[in-house]
Amino acid sequence: MAKKVIITGVPGVGKTTVVNEALKKLKEEGVEYQMVNFGTVMFEVAKSDGTVQDRDQMRTLDRTVQKRLQQLAGQAIAQISGNVLVDTHASVKTPKGYLAGLPEWVLREIMPDIIILVETDDDQILMRRLSDETRTRDKEGSRSIGEHQQFNRSIAAAYAMVTGCTIRIVANPDHLLEHAASEMADVLR
Ligand code: AP5
Repeated sequence: MAKKVIITGVPGVGKTTVVNEALKKLKEEGVEYQMVNFGTVMFEVAKSDGTVQDRDQMRTLDRTVQKRLQQLAGQAIAQISGNVLVDTHASVKTPKGYLAGLPEWVLREIMPDIIILVETDDDQILMRRLSDETRTRDKEGSRSIGEHQQFNRSIAAAYAMVTGCTIRIVANPDHLLEHAASEMADVLR
């Protein structure tokens, strides 16, 4: 049966890196997933109507605009058949507070089987963000990153209550990418 899996993790935790490695392993075994980046789908809509020029601007958009973009992305993803893997955020840190990344109307469209939370030490995430010059990352300390990781666990529990999905935590510490990718591949098999 086709699986719908959602991958989350605070910005810079390395979720996209781990997913790509896991998918390479699975491809060798003939297990295929269609990978969708939720932020990219939102960004394409926002860019086409001139709302933003840069994907890092999306976090600062008015809440109602972000909600409209989320809904459109959720509907587009719901149309995909077969195994689907959605790279997104359990919550987004906005200037007005945490915004649920998967509000009820998005969850009911996608109805995931599993939500994976990729985590690592707060200090490691801080260092990864500082060394990424390709993005305009939020400037925040490791304590604030830790609060965000904790908040994501709490909100994931609420998502499980709505959908009946399971929640899996995958650790992605420095120098152990291979281990994290193997663990994720096991969940996706
Ligand atoms: P998106 O681009 O998906 O999010 P992001 O937060 O910018 O996350 P990244 O994908 O850049 O980071 P990552 O954690 O995947 O890390 P990476 O693999 O690059 O979304 C963009 C925007 O869309 C969001 O900001 C938001 O506004 C919006 N959005 C998305 N979903 C939404 C939703 N549901 N609702 C509302 N808005 C939404 O790795 C980072 C670095 O770490 C790399 O340099 C990598 O080499 C390194 N690294 C990774 N693993 C290891 C390791 N084990 N050891 C050492 N280094 C490592």
